[in-house]
Amino acid sequence: ALWAQVDQVIQTGYLLDVRTGNYQKNKAILVEAGRISAIVDADKAPKDAQLIDLSKHYVVPGLIDMHVHLTSDPQKHGYRALVETPTREAIFGVGAAKATLKAGFTTVRNLGATGYADVSLRDAIEDGEIQGPRMRVATHTICITGGHCDNNLLPHIYNSRSAGVANGPDEVRSKVRENIKYGADVIKFTATGGVMSKNTDVNASQYNFEEMKALIDEAHDRGRIVAAHAHGLQGIKRAIAAGVDSIEHGSFIDDEAIKLAKKHGTYLVMDVYVSDFILSEGEKAGILPESLAKEKTVGLLQRQNFQKAVKAGVKMAYGTDAGVYTHGLNGRQLAYMVQWGMTPLQAIQAATVNAGTLLNWKNEQGQQNVGVLEVGAYADMVAVPVDPLTHIETLEQPAMVVKSGQPVL
Ligand code: ARG
Repeated sequence: ALWAQVDQVIQTGYLLDVRTGNYQKNKAILVEAGRISAIVDADKAPKDAQLIDLSKHYVVPGLIDMHVHLTSDPQKHGYRALVETPTREAIFGVGAAKATLKAGFTTVRNLGATGYADVSLRDAIEDGEIQGPRMRVATHTICITGGHCDNNLLPHIYNSRSAGVANGPDEVRSKVRENIKYGADVIKFTATGGVMSKNTDVNASQYNFEEMKALIDEAHDRGRIVAAHAHGLQGIKRAIAAGVDSIEHGSFIDDEAIKLAKKHGTYLVMDVYVSDFILSEGEKAGILPESLAKEKTVGLLQRQNFQKAVKAGVKMAYGTDAGVYTHGLNGRQLAYMVQWGMTPLQAIQAATVNAGTLLNWKNEQGQQNVGVLEVGAYADMVAVPVDPLTHIETLEQPAMVVKSGQPVL
């Protein structure tokens, strides 16, 4: 037979081509060893493989969240986090990974964890020991002494310093190498202060240009993309100029920085949902009063600037910062992005093809692994009962999630 190796046949009703926004009707996706080997008319599919019937459904590629922390418990913010260990966090991550996958997110980029707990989680999923999304992990976030990734909660006598702290071009290069040695697929650094960290200013830059350039060049030499946490304008611009691949948060971005991002091809990953959680449930979750105060200066402006950036046509990828808020609610941000200026197709593209392109993660034939339903890609997809191009919120609760050609149960 023509398709001797086919393991699964997935019959689809309306298959969305996320590059064009067009639907193909009644197609069958043929799966070999977890990847798509062909897409054919429904009646041409082999009859002897395992059949997954999505012929009544709208089918889109498995969603990608480019900014999560699967090992972070959203109920353990601030001083509560001090009693956590990487081991405990990895165990927490087991449930978080499952919830994320069931929500339709078949791939995540994990942007920071302690003690390489993210590497362990990624590998346990890959080995089939636990259920979860494909993970591309950053391991330790890299930052300056006292920066957003450092532990600034305790006085000097406790001598606490986060593992990702590095100062000066030589130290940041060495930290990138260390992260890669122990399993980092991607690199994350903080270019400005943050909301959740104690005693940092969201507007103040962290790292000078030489340090950023050294860090990014080192990562790129090793084939790793780099994500920069940046709220403040100067830090955003500096990271873009230094060649960063994506700006995370991007809260105070202005027209000039938007132009700069377009010129450099930099992606924006703006987490425009999480503010709702922080301001309504953050206090109960242990978030510091100073962080709640900072969030009030960030949340709304970030959404307005997101709208500006969408209008200007900057490249955008989907990232939520789940871990700061509840895992498994990753899809809620889609409707927020539509509310703040994207078309539903643009929101879906951010969470599929754009994210997959930014990840720059390819198979041996140079085909994109994730973010598209094309030959060579992993057979990861989400099925919904109504048209997501008119009802974006349907993606918050998929009818079925498929990973590697298998239904996620
Ligand atoms: N991890 C980020 C920080 O601490 C969360 C920012 C959330 N707020 C927002 N409006 N996106 O800075």
